[in-house]
Amino acid sequence: MSTIGWVTPALPSNDSSTRQEVLVVDFGAQYAQLIARRVRELQVYSRIVPHRISADEVAAAQPAGIILSGGPKSVHVDGAPTLDPAIYDLRIPILGICYGAQLIASQLGGAVGRGMRGEYGRAEMTCSGASDLLTDDMPTVHDVWMSHFDAITEVPDGFVATASTPDAPVAVLESTPRKIWGVQFHPEVVHSPHGIAVLSQFLHQLAGCDPAWKMSSVVDEQVGLIKEQVGDARVICGLSGGVDSSVAAALVHRAIGAQLTCVYVDTGLMRKGESEQVVETFRRNMGIELIHVDAGQRFFERLEGISEPEAKRKAIGELFIRIFEEHTGGLSEAKFLVQGTLYPDLIESGGVDGTAEVIKSHHNVGGLPEDMTLELVEPLRELFKDEVRTLGTELGLPDEMVWRQPFPGPGLGVRIIGEVTPERVAVLQEADAIVREEIALAGLEREIWQAFAVLPDIRSVGVMGDERTYGHPIIIRAVTSDDAMTADWARLPYDLLERMSQRIINEVPGINRVAYDITSKPPGTIEWE
Ligand code: XMP
Repeated sequence: MSTIGWVTPALPSNDSSTRQEVLVVDFGAQYAQLIARRVRELQVYSRIVPHRISADEVAAAQPAGIILSGGPKSVHVDGAPTLDPAIYDLRIPILGICYGAQLIASQLGGAVGRGMRGEYGRAEMTCSGASDLLTDDMPTVHDVWMSHFDAITEVPDGFVATASTPDAPVAVLESTPRKIWGVQFHPEVVHSPHGIAVLSQFLHQLAGCDPAWKMSSVVDEQVGLIKEQVGDARVICGLSGGVDSSVAAALVHRAIGAQLTCVYVDTGLMRKGESEQVVETFRRNMGIELIHVDAGQRFFERLEGISEPEAKRKAIGELFIRIFEEHTGGLSEAKFLVQGTLYPDLIESGGVDGTAEVIKSHHNVGGLPEDMTLELVEPLRELFKDEVRTLGTELGLPDEMVWRQPFPGPGLGVRIIGEVTPERVAVLQEADAIVREEIALAGLEREIWQAFAVLPDIRSVGVMGDERTYGHPIIIRAVTSDDAMTADWARLPYDLLERMSQRIINEVPGINRVAYDITSKPPGTIEWE
């Protein structure tokens, strides 16, 4: 079916000044993120931009292509997001997906029917003629994944409809002369078996993008940028042991070696064995200069008598900053601070359109005082979490570090309900280690977003041997999630739960009961405090 009329010449890539990029215009919900990921999987760099972006801004960015994402609204409702119409005239190849396709139809003079039957889930699509977007090797009739209520009923002048489903008379619309294509279905989801081929056809053929973007290009590119940014100045990095700060540190070290000093503040609220591993990996294996501040005692003193969750978070955050400052004060010539900010962090902090409400005061082990006059180095700010993991492996970090679950800045402090004491931390560390170990043995480590133990401030009666016990319970929390904004409780196998329960009760003194948390987010949060 392919009758490609023209192909944009491919630019040389691998260098940020000439790197080809595709802009993914965000029309709401989470669609744009998945599309951006798929584009990168097809080895083309992608960036999400708000739908309010102007034609001038797009023209200045010189993207190789533009993808209009799906969105939760109907094009007919008041306040439905639109695109600056002048963007359609820039002659930059555009692919509209779902809402994006309907927008193309409605903004360019076609028609979108309202109050139709809608289609949700699998639908059978029939291709009906010469198409530049659907390739020859796709069957004439194949399944696609739909999620729409309105449907395009008329294509704009100059466009042709090249596929339909029972409830979408225009499932694909195209105007190769205008370099604009649209699909009503979702090519980015795995349930559209030919979806990736459609995206690839758009990116690699119609938009002429070279499949050249890869992790090793990120390393080379970032190493160059970091060198350029910091020159011969000293750079500091607050390590938390988490994936993001570890990968950021390893990358900066690759660029500037001994100019980097890492500071690891051990709050005493880390998981079992974590501090040793951070020191081992960074100082001994990678030869990075690392200041290890063993500050557990100070944190326990500061936390004495505090049980209110926000008060705890604030106390931990403030003391952390004070200690970090004490230990970097000596590095007076330091001009730069490394932070492991990721791309979704920027989007979630209102980067695109959002105004997220503060549910908990988050403390990142990098969220440092405003009066620190250090310039930020954020080498991961264009990457998604899984890309950061790939990069970590590329930089030689061990699997245990690269695949470590997210861990809150205030550490076990927010998993101990009530007062935080060294004894309670020790109990929780043991129980938590069992939960994580069993998850790993069951091979579920990469499927589960987070699995951990919580120590609540209650006691219950039990019987062990012939003796009455009056001990504490452990709550197991295991969730699946894509981004921690929403989460579901993990359906762990019963025998796995049983093993965890037995081991925790047998191996951790003072624990006589184990419960499993079956709350999703919302209404719960992932952490208990
Ligand atoms: P909640 O509990 O809000 O957590 O559903 C969402 C995700 O964020 C992690 N989390 C934190 N991360 N500093 C962090 O760096 C924090 O203060 C913090 N509190 C929660 C949590 O583990 C989950 O992955």
